[in-house]
Amino acid sequence: MKQGLFITLEGPEGSGKSTVIKLIEGYLKERNIEFISTREPGGIEISEQIREIILNKNNTAMDSRTEALLYAAARRQHLAERVIPALEENKIVICDRFVDSSLAYQGYARGIGMNQVMEINKFAIDKYMPNLTIYLDIDPKLGLERISKNKDREVNRLDLEKLDFHKRVREGYMILLKENPDRIKSIDASRDILEVFDDIKKLLKNILK
Ligand code: TYD
Repeated sequence: MKQGLFITLEGPEGSGKSTVIKLIEGYLKERNIEFISTREPGGIEISEQIREIILNKNNTAMDSRTEALLYAAARRQHLAERVIPALEENKIVICDRFVDSSLAYQGYARGIGMNQVMEINKFAIDKYMPNLTIYLDIDPKLGLERISKNKDREVNRLDLEKLDFHKRVREGYMILLKENPDRIKSIDASRDILEVFDDIKKLLKNILK
């Protein structure tokens, strides 16, 4: 059976993922391309419940491996309930964050090890890897400044991490970029949003043709 395309968006805090995703949605709508746009945990009841535990500001005692396992569990449920059915209907799936987030945040920044985090995620995601991952690159200092200006945004437990943590997240993504040059495409997200989106349109045109 013909499969749809699985496209994920990645990036550190304040990289502008949400704005970019809205623009991608508009781009696909204009072209009458069937797609779903989702994010982990994506409103999937079981995944939402797991996420509540992960991001709860009171859970300061959470062990890094517990955090990684919970993300993998939430990912599995969202994949099974939302992503796989859409791909099987040959739709494009746009997903805000996927396994690369776990590799960069838990594997690298928390120091569990990227290989180990990939191992537990292999069980969760099976053969499902993105066809294209758009990585929005931004200096974490600039990213965090952007977030602090956005008062509507809810502050979660990971936002409270120090700048150093977010610098490590970016380093983690840099390693992933090097290891997966065909799948992950990096976009300089410090620029004006229209310039950023121009580059993304090129990537989309390429993969959709
Ligand atoms: P979210 O509110 O979705 O933030 P953002 O708009 O930056 O995507 O919060 C998700 C947080 O969880 C974010 O800090 C990244 C982190 N995260 C991980 O650490 N590991 C993961 O596997 C995923 C999916 C997210």
